[in-house]
This record gives sequence, C-alpha cells and structure tokens, in this order.
Amino acid sequence: MAGIWSVLLYVFGVLVGLFGILIITARTYIYWGFRECNSKASMKGKVVLVTGASAGLGKEVARDLAQRGARVIMACRNLAKANKVAEEIRKSTGSDLVEVQLLDTSSMASVRKFANSFLKNETRLDVLVLNAGIVGPASLTYTEDDHELTMATNHFGHFLLTNILLDLVKRSSPSRVVVVSSRNHQYTNGFDPDDLDNKKRPYIGSYQSYNHSKLCNVLFTKQLSHYLEGTDVACNALCPGSVMTEIFYKLPGVLWLQIIGVIVYFSGKTIAEGAQTIIHLAVAEEEANTRGEYYENCRVCPTTDQANDMGLAKKVWEKSEELVDLRAEERHY
Ligand SMILES: NC(=O)c1ccc[n+]([C@@H]2O[C@H](COP(=O)([O-])OP(=O)(O)OC[C@H]3O[C@@H](n4cnc5c(N)ncnc54)[C@H](OP(=O)(O)O)[C@@H]3O)[C@@H](O)[C@H]2O)c1
Repeated sequence: MAGIWSVLLYVFGVLVGLFGILIITARTYIYWGFRECNSKASMKGKVVLVTGASAGLGKEVARDLAQRGARVIMACRNLAKANKVAEEIRKSTGSDLVEVQLLDTSSMASVRKFANSFLKNETRLDVLVLNAGIVGPASLTYTEDDHELTMATNHFGHFLLTNILLDLVKRSSPSRVVVVSSRNHQYTNGFDPDDLDNKKRPYIGSYQSYNHSKLCNVLFTKQLSHYLEGTDVACNALCPGSVMTEIFYKLPGVLWLQIIGVIVYFSGKTIAEGAQTIIHLAVAEEEANTRGEYYENCRVCPTTDQANDMGLAKKVWEKSEELVDLRAEERHY
C-alpha cells in the first residue's frame, strides 16, 4: 500500500515539476521579446473608437487613450457592463471624454445602425481600433444574418464597420486603423475563401473558426492598406500575445480553452502588457506611415505566405463584400 502512495507521490511531483518548467520556459520566452509602447504622444483633440472596450485589452486601450486626452467612444454589446467600465475609466483618468455606444459586431444590422448614427453625430475619427473578439462556441452557430458566429464577430462586423466609416477616417487623416488579430492566424488548416461561413466543410471546432477569422483580420488589413495607398491613413494588424482575459472562460463547454487559460494565467502577459502593441499602433509617431504590416511586441513581425498572399486578400475582401451585402453608398475605397 505504502508503495502505491510513493509511486503516486512521485508521479505527482514529476507532473508539478514539468508544469513548473513549462511555465518558466513560457514566461522567459514571452519576456525575452516583450517591448512596451514608449510613445508619450498626446491624443488631445483626437476621436478614437474602440470596439469591445468593456473588458480585457479593449478596456485597457480605452483607458490609456483617455489618459492621453482622446475622446474615446467605447463600442460595446453589453451597455450595463460597458457603462460601469466607462465610469471606472473616467474616475481613474479624470477624463470626462469617455462614452459608451451600442455595437454588436456579430449583427450586421447593429453595425449599420451604429455606424450610420456615428456618421451623423461625429465630425472626425482619428483612430479606429477593431478589437472585439470571441473564440468560437463548441458547436457551429449561425447569427441572424446566417453568418458563422466567430467569423461574424471577429471579421464581418469589423469589415462592414470599417467600410461604412472609411470616408470619415480618410477625411480625418492623418488617421489610423488598428486591427487586433492573433498569432493564431498562422494555423489555418482547411481555410477556404469560398467557405468563410463554414457551410461546406465540417465544423472542427472553436479553435479553427477563431484562427480562420484571425487570418481574415490580417488579409483585410493587407487589402485595406492596398486601397488606402496614396492616403494618409495607417492601417496595421497585430497580435497582443498571450494575455489572461475573459476570452478564455466566456464560453462554457470549451474545455481546452479553459486549460490554455490556466497556463496563460501563470505564464502570459498582464492585460496592461498585452495592450502595448495596440496602443503603439494607435499613437506612436513612427507608425504614422506604416501600412499593411503585422506586429508583435511593438515591432513588425514576419508572417506566413498565406497571410501575405495579396490574391487571397482580394478574394477574401470580395467574398466579405458579398456576404455582408455591402451597398454602393457604403463603399469608400
Ligand atoms: N487574450 C489573448 O491572449 C489574445 C491573444 C491574441 C489575440 N487576442 C485578441 O484580442 C482581442 C480582445 O480580446 P480579449 O483577450 O481582451 O478578450 P475579452 O476580455 O473577452 O474582451 C473581448 C471584448 O470583445 C467584446 N465582444 C465580444 N463579442 C462582441 C460582439 N459581438 N460585439 C461587440 N463586442 C463584442 C467583449 O464584450 P463583452 O464584455 O460584452 O463580452 C469584450 O469587450 C480579440 O480580438 C482577441 O482575438 C487576444
């Protein structure tokens, strides 16, 4: 009997040891490359729109930009939650230029309503931060527009929003579009631009739909930058790194995500650290003229041939136009 306990204790010790080594290795790797935004740029007089600012990275970006004096519009789906966060930001920064507006990026009707009201009420948009995001649900889910939920939330909603607001962004130049993607855009087995809504292939799971949507974020950035050539609008994509936020435990039933969440909790960046590359692309003077790049840790980072494929970027753009039913008056490139 005592023998069994010693073996179990030994196995437990080995597992704890391995977990410790994994955490230390991951932490070392993350902090080795980490760089923070060292720009002290003021954002006084600038109007900034951040999608998904009610939690995590978006909240931290909204707080930082409010601290720099920007007027910050937090475009969020849960008004009660977002209003509490806005109040917190107003208190901690002393800024009264923070406001919440309703936007559900997974609903094209909500995006159109929000964007058209924005155009009516605002005279400029200096920085558009496309941040809202989810990891897909455990089973294939379609929205009211018949879009796959993850693709709708992470890509289609931002695609449509940017198109509708693009003329205002151009008129406000020098201006910027910052697209929050993920390094996961590099792991996209089975990506098919003719099947962005996952109607033809089997739904392998939330990981795949998330990665496909994050590839679309990068390809969208590339194609938009191409259309913005000759303008004074900077447009770049980024990965914030592994950051312990609500994204890991919002979706019940996705066990693997919660396990990754535990690892990220011990080894990942803090939210303030994770927000640095987003803030950098929104404010740093040296990024005013960069276009179509992918960033990690506040510097340009190489990516895959697939994410650099301009033919694929054009195809995804055209398919997205079709799927969100982009209208003539919403096209400004
Ligand atoms: N955390 C990481 O390790 C990591 C790594 C790579 C990339 N990213 C990217 O970073 C971005 C921010 O994620 P996070 O980690 O900060 O996650 P988070 O804490 O869960 O925050 C996500 C934000 O997006 C909002 N949101 C989700 N669905 C929305 C919808 N349909 N309409 C409007 N807003 C919506 C959420 O609103 P509610 O508060 O109402 O839920 C929340 O404000 C995402 O694009 C994610 O893909 C994160």
